[in-house]
Amino acid sequence: MGAVPQLKRYLDKMKGQPLSDNWDDIEHLHGSNLEGLGYPTQKPEALLERILKSSSEEGETVLDPFCGCGTSIAVAQRLNRKWIGIDITHLAIGLIKSRLRDAFGEAVKETYKVIGEPTALPDAEELAKEDPYQFQWWALGLVGARRAEQRKGSDQGIDGRLYFHDEGEGGSTKQIILSVKSGHVNVAQVRDLRGFIEREKAEIGVLITLEDATKPMRTEAAAAGFYKSLYGQDKYPKLQILTVAELLGGKSIAYPQHSHNVTFKRAPRAETPQAEQLTLAPSDETAKPRKPRKHS
Ligand SMILES: C[S@@+](CC[C@H](N)C(=O)[O-])C[C@H]1O[C@@H](n2cnc3c(N)ncnc32)[C@H](O)[C@@H]1O
Repeated sequence: MGAVPQLKRYLDKMKGQPLSDNWDDIEHLHGSNLEGLGYPTQKPEALLERILKSSSEEGETVLDPFCGCGTSIAVAQRLNRKWIGIDITHLAIGLIKSRLRDAFGEAVKETYKVIGEPTALPDAEELAKEDPYQFQWWALGLVGARRAEQRKGSDQGIDGRLYFHDEGEGGSTKQIILSVKSGHVNVAQVRDLRGFIEREKAEIGVLITLEDATKPMRTEAAAAGFYKSLYGQDKYPKLQILTVAELLGGKSIAYPQHSHNVTFKRAPRAETPQAEQLTLAPSDETAKPRKPRKHS
């Protein structure tokens, strides 16, 4: 008697189970996850990758009209899709720009266009008049800083923070604290910032102003002295005043050039940078921003 014929099945040749609508094999992000950017509703890239791969082909366009910290945008870029991202807050737009830079390198900014951000002083003045918070987030984004957590007491007077490493990757983290003023400015604000620098043991304090700084403000700032870089023996003004006009003109915070800005957790570097022309387009509403609605 011969053996009973059997059918050999090769798992890698089988179609497998179709996906159900309950995807419990992708872990949600938690605190220690490297992808985490601190955005409250951030989704894992693996989730967006599955959605984009199952619903689009390379070269097609992905639209995310509520793109938050830009998970769909970063994944679309990596998977060679074109993309349009829309978000009502300058906080999100700033975060997406940092995320793309960290994942694809500086050159990525040449491949997309941001619509709705102030590009000249009158736009910035308009934004400040309509929504001082949006103005603040946008101004912090100009220098690559993040918004200071608004905890009671401890962060009072500080609007943003920027962290850098001054002794190579392994060195201790140094801090720049920032205060953004969209209204009238005076010397008392510079004195306050001097106090905050001491209180926070920050290396540098920066006052970003829409108005020009007065002479007494500049004198008070100069009196704060210098931060001396341990690495290169260079020195940087401990209290710097930068006007929005100066920032729009290309001026930036003076801090050690060999240092690393480690303000945002770096988004993991993606493997396939793409050089195609893409668009990051906040809705026209962003040009006339409204107060952000509460995130879902
Ligand atoms: C749930 S979050 C998106 C999270 C995103 N999926 C991620 O992984 O980061 C929703 C986003 O919609 C934005 N938003 C709310 N109202 C909006 C509107 N009217 N137009 C555009 N964006 C809006 C919020 O600023 C927020 O960033």
